[in-house]
Amino acid sequence: MPGPHSLADLVDHLDASPSPFHAVESAHRRLDEAGFTAVAERDAWDEVAPRGYIARDGALIAWVLPAADRPDAAFRLVGAHTDSPCLRVKPHPDTATAGWRQLGVEVYGGVLLNSWLDRDLAIAGRVVMADGSSQLVDVRRPVARVPQLAIHLDRGVNDSGLKLDPQQHVHPVWGSGTSTPGDFSEWLADAAAIDRPAWWELCLYDVQGAAVLGGDVSLLASGRLDNQVSCWAATTSLAASGAGDAVAMIVLNDHEEVGSASTTGASGPLLEQVLERLVLARGGTRDDLLRALAASTCVSADNAHAVHPNYTDRHDPTHRPLVNAGPAIKVNASQRYATSAPTAALFQRACVAAGVPWQVFVSRNNMPCGSTIGPLTATRLGIATVDVGVPQLSMHSARELCGVHDPAWLASALAAYFEASSDPT
Ligand code: CO
Repeated sequence: MPGPHSLADLVDHLDASPSPFHAVESAHRRLDEAGFTAVAERDAWDEVAPRGYIARDGALIAWVLPAADRPDAAFRLVGAHTDSPCLRVKPHPDTATAGWRQLGVEVYGGVLLNSWLDRDLAIAGRVVMADGSSQLVDVRRPVARVPQLAIHLDRGVNDSGLKLDPQQHVHPVWGSGTSTPGDFSEWLADAAAIDRPAWWELCLYDVQGAAVLGGDVSLLASGRLDNQVSCWAATTSLAASGAGDAVAMIVLNDHEEVGSASTTGASGPLLEQVLERLVLARGGTRDDLLRALAASTCVSADNAHAVHPNYTDRHDPTHRPLVNAGPAIKVNASQRYATSAPTAALFQRACVAAGVPWQVFVSRNNMPCGSTIGPLTATRLGIATVDVGVPQLSMHSARELCGVHDPAWLASALAAYFEASSDPT
């Protein structure tokens, strides 16, 4: 049985989270084991579990109430996202071409398409029956593959670059022969031992599990490091934290990779509603809520770009995160990251208290900067936010790479942040 902050536990979470729905299941399993209570959004919240969570689809929000509870107690939030770029099975996926059976797929998020070629792909996600009942499925064996064109038929590929059209070139093969409508749903029902589903949200994923890598075993390779590393660090640090002087909370949102505008995304109302209900259920008023928000902070955790040894010129020379050198604080003057000087100092104090190293990421001025859920939470709720993340390579590849030390260091820093005794603003 791996320990709560161990590398083995992270590997377990990565392998158990091939879809956002599975990531939520893996997170709430850890919370269940730590004595948290599942709370239903549809119930009246007359009194709130001191350690509780709500799970909705691919999103989860969990909290630990303060020991000496007041309805205007500040929220100390950690945010992360449960989704990762991938290929998703379309509603009518059955096709066949030239003796190959193929699956129709949609591209979800900013996929590095080349990284999905020639991998043995498994299938996981959520299925819904015609009566509306739903369940998770995970067919964890090689089922499909997007075969790359042989170099003999594409002689210029290494010099001119690989060009992949998302409609033309990424549909996987999953058998030979011809195809009939309904083949996939019939196969899925059989493979997952379920009734035939009417609808689904299914992700293809690399069947190869997370693995420690390197002659010095200092690296970790896996799909979905962005952003399951942060989901894991947030969940395990909250699960281990006791009641402090603020409401310790994590929010794991879905749909970050496609813009966050959804019922379970960071631009949706879910977090705001839970924050308000937590205040009202503890006898507070709207003014208590607004006073709590004014004193609240958020650490938005999403992986950062480590400097790549073969492309060092893609980073600013004095703000380039190294692997196994601690979580990076992300700064962007244009507010693509929500970090301010006071919130950067807040996270720095957490790192110092936890005894973990930290570093700073700022992108090159002539390179566009990515974004994350931090600025959304900051602008929607007016909560002072810092964007941080574990440095990694190959972001949005089917198989990414990070250091073995940084995830646990992030978890330790988040635990120290939850336990901090004073608010920065
Ligand atoms: Co991310």
